[in-house]
Amino acid sequence: MRLADKVAIVTGAGSGMGRAMAELFASEGAKVVVTDIVQERVDDVVQAIQSAGGTASGVLVDVSKEADTDAMINHAVDTYGRLDILVNNAGIMDAMTPITDVSNDLWRRILGVNLDGPFYAMRKAIPIMLEQGGGTILNIASIGGVQGGRAGAAYTTSKHALIGLTRNTGYMYGPQGIRCNAICPGGVETAIGLGGAPHEWGLQRMQTGAGNIGPAGKPEDIAAVALLLVSDEARFVNGAAWVVDGGWTAY
Ligand SMILES: NC(=O)c1ccc[n+]([C@@H]2O[C@H](COP(=O)([O-])OP(=O)(O)OC[C@H]3O[C@@H](n4cnc5c(N)ncnc54)[C@H](O)[C@@H]3O)[C@@H](O)[C@H]2O)c1
Repeated sequence: MRLADKVAIVTGAGSGMGRAMAELFASEGAKVVVTDIVQERVDDVVQAIQSAGGTASGVLVDVSKEADTDAMINHAVDTYGRLDILVNNAGIMDAMTPITDVSNDLWRRILGVNLDGPFYAMRKAIPIMLEQGGGTILNIASIGGVQGGRAGAAYTTSKHALIGLTRNTGYMYGPQGIRCNAICPGGVETAIGLGGAPHEWGLQRMQTGAGNIGPAGKPEDIAAVALLLVSDEARFVNGAAWVVDGGWTAY
């Protein structure tokens, strides 16, 4: 019970890594607020956690809307009385689109979910954590946040920026008991897809070096590292962006 009595929010918890984290955290004693943009997924994961004997409640949230992320944080505090762990996991891809073909709409959509979402949630959560005397934030970035050729322009920008936000926040609030870290997953078997019909040339450029890709990871591989990062055992880890990619970027 490494997260006994902790209250955790996981965004995008209806599928993939978010679901794996929500279920693992609940099995370790956390009370989990399961949030996603798809209601059936929220209901399904809450049900699965409760059936396994855990504690969870669900909220329908579009993380790109500040009113939704506000309601999500308020729900955690109103329901469980505090907020210890915030995991910004919800994210979408950009079909590998290089900048000249990125429409304003695509740019805003990707940045809205992948960057505005974590920004809104963190800005609202941190004062609550400060008042409690601490808390921890985990942002799910990507190896697209540390390299230039793993996605399109908007996704790559959003994940680089998310790592910057992570480091700045960890540095600023570390002395006040808040840790803020990121995981940068490599290829993981989830439902994420490419985010639409892939941009042919962008995909071709992205696949250069793909011969070095090892087997894809499982959502549980990311959840295991996430559990360590949000638990007190990682108290000396702050402002870090951990690559978890089976060695793909090591070549
Ligand atoms: N799968 C990979 O290979 C991979 C690699 C690197 C990083 N990532 C990142 O990991 C995170 C999780 O992705 P996944 O692969 O588990 O994907 P997934 O599609 O399986 O799960 C993501 C969940 O987020 C939800 N979601 C989408 N938009 C949302 C919004 N606006 N508000 C709230 N919820 C929303 C979806 O409904 C879905 O349930 C993302 O941030 C993604 O960028 C994934």
